[in-house]
Amino acid sequence: MTEDDLYTVYKGVLLPTLIHPPQSLRRYEAFTFRPDDILIVTYPKSGTTWMQEIVPLIVSGGDPASVETLHNWDRVPWLEEARSCSLDLDARPSPRMFTTHFLHHMMPPSFFQVRPKVIYVMRNPKDVFTSTFHYHRMASFLPDPEPQSNFLNKFLEGKVMFGSWFDHIKGWLNDRERIFYISYEEMTNDLIDSVARIAVFLEKSLDNDVIEKIAERCRFENMKKNSMSNYSAVPKEIMDDTKSEFLRKGIAGDWKNQLTAAEAEHFDAVYKDNTKDVDYKFAWG
Ligand code: A3P
Repeated sequence: MTEDDLYTVYKGVLLPTLIHPPQSLRRYEAFTFRPDDILIVTYPKSGTTWMQEIVPLIVSGGDPASVETLHNWDRVPWLEEARSCSLDLDARPSPRMFTTHFLHHMMPPSFFQVRPKVIYVMRNPKDVFTSTFHYHRMASFLPDPEPQSNFLNKFLEGKVMFGSWFDHIKGWLNDRERIFYISYEEMTNDLIDSVARIAVFLEKSLDNDVIEKIAERCRFENMKKNSMSNYSAVPKEIMDDTKSEFLRKGIAGDWKNQLTAAEAEHFDAVYKDNTKDVDYKFAWG
């Protein structure tokens, strides 16, 4: 299939057509948020699934029932995906938990009227690229990422799913209203502290031993064993985990094994140029 067959252009951004049919995009546009909704926002491959494990555990006070019985896509559903049309989201009790990969300018009107709580997860874009590259190898609904040098150019130009990483980051960093910013790197550095800070943002008072247990459960090796979060339930025709696993390496800095020296240098130059006006101290330096 060609890229034209695989992608839909929505609000100027490429989306994988298979999981973003017109009816789910229309439904999201008309969606009504509640002020106590919790929304996880990420550029793909930045730690979405990880946060879909952490947030329900914080909200439940450490009770693992939902992460043991509900798939991550039902536990904290993506509002833009086809799957959300089969879920009765209005019937869910507060606080509801959702996910979106939408750029800031793509958000529906209700978001700006209601301002639910947002947790925005960022990751070193060179690692985002690396993870994206391997994801494209295993997902049949995305174009083949080979050769890597071409795919890198597409990524840097924003001609990939959910558009430009730079536009995503800049749009969400320009807002700051009821938004908690955290990075993948802060989470790999100190998961207990990260869980504690997210709990404070969510106004959930938890004892230290509960926070430690949540962090333990959310460590890469432990989450990888959770069949409700490791994507093992997705048919091989859609995601082939013999090519690459969804929970692949779970580390910061894997770009060093992926990019050539020339590619890393080019990436750094584009990064520098595109982030010079960003007023935020990123954890990856
Ligand atoms: P890698 O491909 O670098 O391993 P998303 O959920 O946004 O699609 O991001 C997927 C990335 O997050 C993958 O990165 C995956 O391994 C990583 N990830 C998921 N759960 C994690 C965890 N508990 N600890 C560390 N990394 C995790």
